[in-house]
Amino acid sequence: MTTNPFEGRLIRLRAREPEDEPSLHEWFNDPEVTEHLALRYPLSHRTEREFIESVSDVGYARASFAVETHDGRMIGGCGLENPSAENRTAVLGIAIGDKHFWDGGFGTDTMRVLCRFGFEMMNLHRIQLDVYGGNLRAIHVYEKVGFRREATKRQAVYKLGRYHHIHIMGLLEGELKLED
Ligand SMILES: CC(C)(COP(=O)(O)OP(=O)(O)OC[C@H]1O[C@@H](n2cnc3c(N)ncnc32)[C@H](O)[C@@H]1OP(=O)(O)O)[C@@H](O)C(=O)NCCC(=O)NCCS
Repeated sequence: MTTNPFEGRLIRLRAREPEDEPSLHEWFNDPEVTEHLALRYPLSHRTEREFIESVSDVGYARASFAVETHDGRMIGGCGLENPSAENRTAVLGIAIGDKHFWDGGFGTDTMRVLCRFGFEMMNLHRIQLDVYGGNLRAIHVYEKVGFRREATKRQAVYKLGRYHHIHIMGLLEGELKLED
């Protein structure tokens, strides 16, 4: 049977749509969701609309997706950005913005589908990401699917009154763990 490249056990990836805007606006103005993200100012509806507009032509240059459950509920977003065709690399970002879905396996499944898409559909060789040192849930998920911690930028970000390390993590072709 052919594998659907957009689909995992719990989620599927799809293009962003204008109707996604209210959820994005709610999530990315929620300090609990943005605690470990590089967002610190309130986001307007206009900014979210412009973001969706800028990523709605999904392609190699900007592979940005909405994440939805199999019953069609949009729970987050993810993407592979800044690709380099010469080096076959890209930078991964993910947010399960609907926090009611945290710790339900959706982030892990999204990571697996997105990385598989990167290797099998975009012909990437290496996927890289940055994660704040205190984002223990995210680090756990990244390591579970095969990412390795490669370097630490010490005290690289100041947020919520203190400095935080940023870890650089990487996953090479062949290293993705598709099962627990
Ligand atoms: C990080 C994120 C993508 C994870 O998604 P998720 O759907 O909650 O992840 P899962 O349910 O698949 O897995 C969570 C895992 O972390 C574990 N976990 C939860 N809290 C933890 C903690 N404080 N320390 C270590 N592990 C933790 C869970 O036990 C689970 O592991 P298991 O499946 O091996 O038992 C999601 O929480 C999120 O989007 N957060 C806000 C935005 C964000 O931080 N994005 C990442 C930026 S780098």
